[in-house]
Parts: sequence; C-alpha cells; structure tokens
Amino acid sequence: MNVLRRHDTESEAPAAAISSARDRPPAVDCSHVAAELTTALGVENVRAGAPASRYTTWRVGGAAELLCMVHSVEALCKAVRIVRAAGLPWLVLGRGSNVLIDDAGFAGVMIINRADGLSIDGTDVRAESGVLLSVLARRTVASGLVGLAWCHDIPGTVGGAVVNNAGANGGSMADVVRAARLLTLDGTICRIDTADLDFGYRHSALRAEAAVPAGGRSVVLDVWFTLSDGDTFDITKEMHVQRARRKATQPGGASAGSVFKNPPGDSAGRLIDAAGLKGLRAGDAAVSQLHGNFIVTGPRACAGDVLELIGRMRQCVRDEFGVDLQPEVQSVSRDGCIGPPGGV
Ligand code: EPU
Repeated sequence: MNVLRRHDTESEAPAAAISSARDRPPAVDCSHVAAELTTALGVENVRAGAPASRYTTWRVGGAAELLCMVHSVEALCKAVRIVRAAGLPWLVLGRGSNVLIDDAGFAGVMIINRADGLSIDGTDVRAESGVLLSVLARRTVASGLVGLAWCHDIPGTVGGAVVNNAGANGGSMADVVRAARLLTLDGTICRIDTADLDFGYRHSALRAEAAVPAGGRSVVLDVWFTLSDGDTFDITKEMHVQRARRKATQPGGASAGSVFKNPPGDSAGRLIDAAGLKGLRAGDAAVSQLHGNFIVTGPRACAGDVLELIGRMRQCVRDEFGVDLQPEVQSVSRDGCIGPPGGV
C-alpha cells in the first residue's frame, strides 16, 4: 500500500493528486482487454482510468486502469472470463463498503457488480450478488418474511455480505443463506451449500484472511436464502428501532462500517474508545467521535490517511490492553493483492 503523506495546508492540492503525481506507477496496457470488454458489455459500461474513490464508501483510492460495470450475472461471468484469460489483475466490487483501495490505484480491471435480479417465492428468496442489502431487506420485509431485516442499513451488496458474513443487530448471513452459485477459478459454475461456505464471525471460505491475488478466489453469482413467515408490521417496527439505535451509535457520512472485528468477549469500539482514540486524525480521516470502531473520511482524505489511522489504532490498543485487533476491512494494493490492511 502506498502511504505517501499529504500536506495539511489549505492551499495545497488534494492528497490523492499529490500522491499520484509524485508516485504514479507505469500504466498497464489494457487496450486489448478494453476492446474485448467493450464488445461484450457495451461501450457505456467500460471506462479507462476511473477513480476507485467513486466506488468505495470511504471515497478514497486511486484510479483503476480499466473499470467495467456489469448489470447481470451473465455479464459478470463474461467480464471475469475475459480478464482472467488476459492474465491481468482483476477485482469484483459491490458497493465497496469494506475495502480500502491503494492511492496508487489498481493496475488491472475493476468489475463493478450491479447484477440485481431478485425473486421471492414463498419463503425462498434468490438474489443476484449485486443486489443492495437495503433492497433485499425492504423487499423481504414487505413480503412478510423474517430473517433479513437486520441488513436494511448496511451499505453493501449480497455478494460482499456473503464473502464477509456480514451481520448486525444479532443477525448474520450465516443464519439465512441456504446456498450460493459461484464462478470458480477454473471458469466453471457450481452451487455450494451453506455448510461448505464455512461461515464464522465475519468469515467465510470465500474471504482471504491473508493477502492473496484479488482474482484468486471464486466469485459469488447469486444466493438462495431460506426465511420464515412473519408479520410485516412487526418486522417494520423492529427495523425502525434498529435504525434509531444505529443512528444514535454510528456515524453517517463516508466510512466503511466497523474497521476491526470484535475480539472474543469484548468490543473493538469500546477498546479504541477506552484508549482515548476518538477524534484522532490523520490527514482528512478521523476516528469517529460517535463510535470508536469507525474511521470517517472528509473530501481531502486519501487511502494513506486511513491506513495510518488503522495502524495507530491497532498499536495503541495493543500497547494499552495487550489486544491485537484484527481488521474486518480489507485493502487492495495496486498490483492486485487483497488482504488485511498493512499486510498483517
Ligand atoms: N462502545 C463504547 N465506545 C464506542 C463504541 C462502543 O464503549 O465508541 C461499547 C458500547 O457501549 C457497547 C459495546 O461497546 O457496550 C458494543 O458496541 P455496539 O453495540 O456499538 O456494537 P459493536 O460490537 O461495536 C457490532 C458490529 C456492527 C453492528 C453493531 C450492531 C462488529 C465488528 N460490529 O458493533 O457491524 O452494526 O454490532 O449490531 O461486529 C460492521 O460490521 O461493519 C458493523 C457496523
């Protein structure tokens, strides 16, 4: 990860601009892939040099050499097969809510997943991996189904939520996912049951706990959920209670949700708070005053600011309480490795 520090005076250019001007690595030749992707997906869905900051909830990160937008599972498969065959680094992003992209950008193809098919048949729900969690929650609750209301305020997609076993308000993906369809590394499509997804707290078999090439894992195409019947009025009421609680305890604006996983039997937010770190700043990023486990970013923030804070929070909590916090968010380096921020 490139950690060029920015200057703090108002007159200077934004951090990302300084970082990329000084440090821009040589471009990667994506022209042949661009032509192939344009034919497959349409010219309006392929862009060169698009800033990753527009596609992540921290709103930081340099440009992707090439970015393409897919609106169906078929288009997602096509895009992945094309970039894989070309041997370039690649990455699928949903809403980019759990990820930190390098200020130096991404030397490959970023595939933005907007495959958003959703069908409900009794208590069976099938959602494509680009469906927004807020939409999934709203639609299932409107159908009087219990099991997914907890995710209505999470700014992510079904695919990312399965990979990270997202959870809130006592619920998690592991409780409701029955099966998922994957595009595997050898290019075949297979269905995998929940037992083989190996769900744990903020973990699944699809998540890299150590740094690996971003394209080195299967891609979630769609997911089947089994929910139970309930009462729309009651579930909606509970959703409002959860929303009020979330508003009172978690910051709005640009963030990536919880930065660290909770250590067994404790809370990362409580430990960071108790270490006196709320309000700690690096450039235009800060530890939230409302919740210690959130880093919020301003318009001039860069990925280096966020990375610096993650390192300092982790170090302080280790020094103060002897607890080594494990990041929930993942970082992506320019050459396409995905894993824990800072590599540890
Ligand atoms: N606390 C503090 N200071 C803080 C923050 C929290 O003392 O700055 C204390 C709280 O008072 C509470 C305890 O720590 O006693 C736990 O805090 P909270 O209820 O806010 O829950 P959390 O464990 O910090 C988890 C999830 C959130 C999820 C909430 C609500 C993790 C890492 N985080 O937060 O998930 O929204 O519960 O269900 O498991 C996410 O994963 O991105 C995320 C936001």
